[in-house]
Amino acid sequence: MSGIPRVKVNLHHTFYYQYEPTLLDALESQQIPAPYNCRGGYCGCCKVRLLEGEVKYVQDSLVDLADDEILTCCCIPQSHIEIEIPED
Ligand code: FES
Repeated sequence: MSGIPRVKVNLHHTFYYQYEPTLLDALESQQIPAPYNCRGGYCGCCKVRLLEGEVKYVQDSLVDLADDEILTCCCIPQSHIEIEIPED
């Protein structure tokens, strides 16, 4: 892929990935509320649905994930992506 990955979140935020260490850091730098706890791939709090695109894991995930789920603390965008953060 060429160009900077674009990240769409819950249909109402769109930003360009600025090469933060993880997707969770990227969401936080955009002040998008994103759940987290351990930041280490083992609590599952940061689980979101990946609706479109691909991510690359930068640290191991120790949580069981469905095919369309990712941990934002463990990955970075590999292409333009669209994610859904659970809202309560
Ligand atoms: S914050 Fe715990 S798995 Fe990501």
